[in-house]
Amino acid sequence: MRCLSGVQPSGKLHLGNYFGAMRPQIELQAEHECFYFIANYHALTSLTDPKAMEEYTLEVAMGFLAIGLDPDKTVFFRQSDVPEVAELMWILSTVTPVPLLQRCHAYKDKLAQGLSANAGLFTYPVLQAADILIYRSHLVPVGQDQKQHVEITQDIQTKFNQQFGEILVRPEPLIREEVAVVPGVDGRKMSKSYDNAIELFIPEKQVRKKIMSIVTDSTPVEDPKDPDKCNVMALLRLIADDEERAEWEERYRKGGMGYGESKKRLFELFVERLGPARAKYDEFNGNRDYVEEVLAAGGRKARAVACEVMDEVRKATGIVINRAR
Ligand code: ADP
Ligand code: TRP
Repeated sequence: MRCLSGVQPSGKLHLGNYFGAMRPQIELQAEHECFYFIANYHALTSLTDPKAMEEYTLEVAMGFLAIGLDPDKTVFFRQSDVPEVAELMWILSTVTPVPLLQRCHAYKDKLAQGLSANAGLFTYPVLQAADILIYRSHLVPVGQDQKQHVEITQDIQTKFNQQFGEILVRPEPLIREEVAVVPGVDGRKMSKSYDNAIELFIPEKQVRKKIMSIVTDSTPVEDPKDPDKCNVMALLRLIADDEERAEWEERYRKGGMGYGESKKRLFELFVERLGPARAKYDEFNGNRDYVEEVLAAGGRKARAVACEVMDEVRKATGIVINRAR
């Protein structure tokens, strides 16, 4: 089965991205043919600094390679290296009902945050549908927040095929229900927009500082504590193995343990578990030409697939590209 997912280059990667999206996506490489890309066209709806766009694109690429994306197995590329996706987006927009886009949570949330609504923000799900449909993707591994976008893609695929014939493949979302929302240092969902994230590839000293700043309640050291209501424990549960997780839960319930201790262990485990990926990230950072080559090679492979689908789409819609120049 072909699995496809995209990630926006919109900031530094953090533990929420890692547990919620990146790690499960990397695991899928073992069983599926994966197409993963960096959604720079999508990021343009909110990121307008060209230097930051280039930098974050490479940071995301280095991050995925560092945590185990294998470019020999997985087609890994920049969205914009396949410009046909913008062409398909236009064609799909002509079969997309406006109310379908008006219902979209991501669009409504952004409006509620006071972001001015450009057409890109509104038609964002149509571009996402083009991303998914142009590679004939079967599965789309994403977090809960993206489920609606995949459902919109299914609706658009149905409309297109009804209109022009059975050309596009219906994708299914692949959502790991067991991956809970990862909390940030203030207990809200970890997100770069809340300034509460523990980033994966920042210097160790800063990681320690962030972990030590995780908000906890004021239960005295000697009292029992509820492991289900602690932000430190929520992260420990994700990073520790089963045995250690059970030990910490017991220590919480017994009392006589301060939050400083669990924070210290969380920091140690972060360094232990993410140490190898962090070292690889530094290596890639020192060899950015290699990272560029990986993306360029992935882009060529992805484009070859996209061009085949586009030939069929053009034929079905009667949009012919005049090759006799
Ligand atoms: P941010 O909220 O920092 O802007 P993104 O929306 O760019 O993060 O996240 C990319 C993907 O990472 C999301 O689609 C989601 O699946 C996952 N993700 C982000 N934050 C979390 C979190 N706190 N818990 C679980 N998954 C998350
Ligand atoms: N909208 C996704 C996000 O913000 C990124 C994305 C763009 C995507 N195109 C995609 C995800 C196609 C899956 C499939 O996380």
